[in-house]
Formats: sequence, C-alpha cells, structure tokens
Amino acid sequence: MTKPQSLPLWQQLQTTQSCLHAVSLGSSTGQVLNAVAPSMRAGVQSLLFHTLRRLGTARALLKLLATKAPKEPAYSLLCVSLALASTEGEPMYSEFTLVSQAVEAAKREPLMQAQAPFINACLRRFFRERDALIEGVNTQLEARWNYPAWWIAKVRDQYPTQWERILEVGNLAPPMTLRVNVLRTTREDLAKSWTDQGLQFSKQGVQGLVLEQPLPVHLVPGFEQGLCTVQDAGAQLGAQILMDAIRGSNPAQREGQKRIKVLDACAAPGGKTTHLLEYMDVQVTALDVVQDRCAKVLDSCERLGVTAEVICADAAQLETWWDKEPFDAVLLDAPCTASGIVRRHPDIRWLRRESDVSQLVLEQRRLLDKSWQVLARGGYLLYCTCSVFKQEGELQIQSFVTRNTDAVICVQPGHLLPCASGKGTLVTDNEPNDHDGFFYALLQKK
Ligand SMILES: C[S@@+](CC[C@H](N)C(=O)[O-])C[C@H]1O[C@@H](n2cnc3c(N)ncnc32)[C@H](O)[C@@H]1O
Repeated sequence: MTKPQSLPLWQQLQTTQSCLHAVSLGSSTGQVLNAVAPSMRAGVQSLLFHTLRRLGTARALLKLLATKAPKEPAYSLLCVSLALASTEGEPMYSEFTLVSQAVEAAKREPLMQAQAPFINACLRRFFRERDALIEGVNTQLEARWNYPAWWIAKVRDQYPTQWERILEVGNLAPPMTLRVNVLRTTREDLAKSWTDQGLQFSKQGVQGLVLEQPLPVHLVPGFEQGLCTVQDAGAQLGAQILMDAIRGSNPAQREGQKRIKVLDACAAPGGKTTHLLEYMDVQVTALDVVQDRCAKVLDSCERLGVTAEVICADAAQLETWWDKEPFDAVLLDAPCTASGIVRRHPDIRWLRRESDVSQLVLEQRRLLDKSWQVLARGGYLLYCTCSVFKQEGELQIQSFVTRNTDAVICVQPGHLLPCASGKGTLVTDNEPNDHDGFFYALLQKK
C-alpha cells in the first residue's frame, strides 16, 4: 500500500471514515471516491482500500475493545484506525502517529468530539494488547479472511484445495496491466518507449504489459495517444478466444468476402469491444442497458481509433434492437457478482448479499438464452463472467447445454482462478501469471 503523504493524516482519516460509512450503507467505492476532492482522492483511496481488505479483522477487534459498539462516525473511524494498526509486517504509521491523528480527526469533527477520549482509550489498549487481541480474533472466519462468512463458505465448498489461496489473492493489491493497441503500435515499440522513460514492467499474454508500479493512467506513456488501454490479463483473453475461434473456422472471412458481424451484448465500458476491433477487422454491435455506460464505450472507441455501432438496449429484448440478421459471433460478458475481481474492488464482498448470486444467475440465463437466438449456425458464443462462483460459470453452462441441444462446448479455459505471481519470485524464463478470476465458455451453434 502506498502511504498517502500530502495532507495531514487526521484529515485523510476523517474523509476515509466518511467513505467507509457510505460503503457500509451500500455505496460503491467508485461512487464515494468520486465525491472526494481530487487533491485527496489517491490518498483516501489507498486508506479506504486497505481498510476494506481488513474490515473483518477491524470489526472483530472493535467488538473486543468496546462492550457496546460506538455510534457513527466514531465506529467507522475506529475501523479505519484498527485496520491500519493491525496490519501485518512493517507498520505503516507509528503507534504515536496513528493514535494522535485518529484522536485529532475525532476532535475536529463535532459529531465525534465527545468520543475522542474513548477512541484514544480503544487504540491505546489495542497497541498494549496487540498480539493477544489479534490471536483472539483470528479464530473467527470473517476476521481471519476478511470476507463475509457466506462468501468464505462458498469458495471453500467449491474449491476445497484452493480456497485459501483464492481468498488471499483477493486481499492483495492488483498489478496495473495494460493492453497494447496493435492497430497503432507494437508491443515491442511501446515497451521500448517505456524503457526509455525509465519504467519497469513485464510482458504478459499476447498484448499485455504489466507495470511494476501502478501509475495514474494519464501518466502512462502512450495512454492519451490511444496506444494502450488498462485491462487485466485475464480479461484480455475474451476477445482473443472468440476471434481465434472465428478466424479458424469462417471460410468467408478467410477469403475476405464478408465482414464478420460480432455482437458484444454487455459492452460497457468497452474494454472487450475495443479489443475485438483491435484484434480483427470485424463489424461490432455493442449493447449496454445503461445509457451513461454506453457513452463510455464510445469514448473508449474514440481514444483507441476504432468504430462500433453502440446501442443502448436490454440485450434480451430482441424486438427493441435486433434487425433479425444473425451474428457470426457473440460475446456475452454477463453481469455477475464480480467475485473474481475483489482485489481491484475490495468493497464488492461487503456489498454483495448471498441472495444476489441466484438473482444474477437468473439474469445470466435470460441473457444467454436470448443471445443464442441471434447467433448464426456455425457461429460462436463466448460466455464470460468475472466470477469464481461456479453457479455463474460451469453450472450455468452445464444447464445451458442441457436446454440447448444445438450448442457444442469447445475447448475453453473454464474457471480461471485469480492468481498473483508475486514480485521477485519468478523464475526469469517464465512470464508473470497474475490475473483476476474469470470464467470463459466458448459455445458453437450446430
Ligand atoms: C461485466 S460488465 C461488461 C464489461 C465489458 N464487457 C468490458 O469488458 O468492458 C457488464 C455490463 O452489462 C451491462 N448489462 C447488464 N444487464 C444488461 C442487459 N440486460 N442488456 C445489456 N447490457 C446489460 C451492465 O450495464 C454492464 O455494463
């Protein structure tokens, strides 16, 4: 975690506390951070993400330290402070700095002033009894793993030998991975200009470059010029799998007689739409049900110099947007729990309810069935989710092929479990293997 430097810590703790409170009421980190002054955003994001990755521990510690849970905003301020104080390894702040700045944050907020002595007492006691308190809460699953109990149980049941690693990877800070826009440059050329500018990075996959140190996107050389796009290495497989299947099978494309028609059924913000267009000369129709998000697809296309037909519509309501001309390929990157990308969005685990899984499974099923109808015979549909839960992946597809006997499952990665290679641990001949969790199923229509 990067230590925020520029503003006094008490001020950052105050803002992080109010962001955490808003997340606990149901807002996403994206929404709450947008409301933070730009000068504070990076520092507050760093503190907020760290807290969310340790929220189970912090809440359990607070239960031991306070017989009665303090009211907001003191509750969230203590959670932020305890998440920082209980960090393993080298402490980010000394005991003195953290306690004095947390107390200062309380004193300067009228709603917390009266609780400043209580906050002081809780934190001082934590530091006095640190090891015993941490050992005490580590026997509780939520405190040990920092996920809700239902989430831990689901991952443990579905991956009996890998569940601990999956949960651990979700608590790490992710790498910043970019996809090179091969329409405008080559990976070698972009890599050379990065090296010339002193950046440290490695290659991953066919078009990926992974920065050693994340940077604000506008500072990534070539980003503003549309030479690259931020996209996780696991997500970079989507367009590649679908386009390679089409390239290998479609004689019309091979002879250059017909432009391949591709539907990106759930397209925003356009990461895979633009990749499809960079990867192969195809005609893409990009749908998304949210108007504002459609604008993001158009922005991404413009920056990267590609063109898609963007339509705001519910992909499953065919009568509202489809002209009855079948598509040669369909990409269905369906709405899901996002359980595979928790390292990038540490709020997701706390915002989701267990009941969301079955609701999303129904929505994915509706979208899959309708997307299948627009696919030409012989064409390919790539279904994908950024989830590790099997209901949204393997089980969804098993049920689909039982209902649709004209669907053939092709060779596919299936569940791609989140993976972090760890800096400095690689054998130099191997490329890093660091990606979020995804599920991919490639289906061909008989
Ligand atoms: C996982 S995101 C897609 C990410 C995108 N493919 C990318 O790579 O950048 C899912 C998207 O589906 C959209 N969506 C949800 N339900 C939809 C529906 N019924 N029809 C069309 N789009 C939908 C959401 O608004 C969201 O933007």
